[in-house]
Amino acid sequence: MSTMRKWTIGVVLLSAAIGGASCSHGITDAQAKAAGAEATAAAEARLFTAMNRDNFDSAGEIISTLIDLRNKYPTNYRNTFILGAANFWWIAEAQRTDAEISPLLIVSLAIPNILGPFSDVISNDPVNRGGADGLLGAFLSDASLDKVTGAALVDSATIYAPQVGLFQQMSIRRFAVFSDTSTAQAIEWGFKWWEYCLGSPIDRTNPDFTGKVKPPTDGPMGFCWGSARVPHGFEGAWMMFGDLLVKGGQFTAARRAYLNAQLGVNYSTWKHSPDLEARLASDFNQRYATYANTDPARWAPIGNTTYGCTQCHASK
Ligand code: HEC
Repeated sequence: MSTMRKWTIGVVLLSAAIGGASCSHGITDAQAKAAGAEATAAAEARLFTAMNRDNFDSAGEIISTLIDLRNKYPTNYRNTFILGAANFWWIAEAQRTDAEISPLLIVSLAIPNILGPFSDVISNDPVNRGGADGLLGAFLSDASLDKVTGAALVDSATIYAPQVGLFQQMSIRRFAVFSDTSTAQAIEWGFKWWEYCLGSPIDRTNPDFTGKVKPPTDGPMGFCWGSARVPHGFEGAWMMFGDLLVKGGQFTAARRAYLNAQLGVNYSTWKHSPDLEARLASDFNQRYATYANTDPARWAPIGNTTYGCTQCHASK
């Protein structure tokens, strides 16, 4: 091998290592982009696998990989989006007993890596914008950081990614006081979302999905029916919606919602099926009564609040 050729390879490796790849150093922008796409796709797959296996203590390490990748490939907005999402998982489940570091440390590390990356995606990436609107809107609302901006982002998600936005319209109102009109609105958004998924009207008093459930699928409608990497979205969404219907005093529809969760194709492998079964066996009146408490910490949960993400993402 000629000295010249050795030198060129050395520069290529060096430029790849420092991430400053450009044509002048012997690697084309296209090659750098392809390498970035491969590395970021692998990191994204790791995140979904960790969420599916409920491997919470790997969140920190996955996040540090995503941060390195963002430094290297700042315009790979899919990676930036996934970085925001990974931090949202971290903070949403910071109270788990298997968290390796304290909730306070997670909060302080995660918040900047939610706000910055999602804002960057919303400003610069039309492809992932709808998803980022939905997740950032949900975060700002759930954390009570900025409910007005959160709701506006969810409105935007409803336009750009309705399969996400309509769900979030329900979700951001789930912690409203039970007698507040927001609870009725949350329920109505939930029905609208399921109607969007189904493509036909739903009886508000008997939302029976028997014979109507579609198998998990990749692509936007996977948000309704689940996907290969998020197998239990359908089950988790009906559990959450059932809880909301109990809170709204609509017990017949609530029972049907829980039964719908059991129609999910992946119900038998869902990690949170025991939560659902406990709800079906519970006294709805007693749970309804908890919402009269002025302290929300005493309410019957709406969804599984400790496992905010893995309630849908995790398998047994
Ligand atoms: C109600 C069920 C449910 C909950 C709760 C949930 N997810 Fe998901 N999630 C889904 C489904 C279903 C999909 C769509 C399937 C897919 O993209 O493969 C999805 C997709 C995603 C995606 C990919 C979005 C895209 O545009 O490709 C990310 C990232 C994600 N979820 C992160 C989270 C995080 C973080 C949380 C918690 C803060 C969370 N999810 C909570 C069901 C849920």
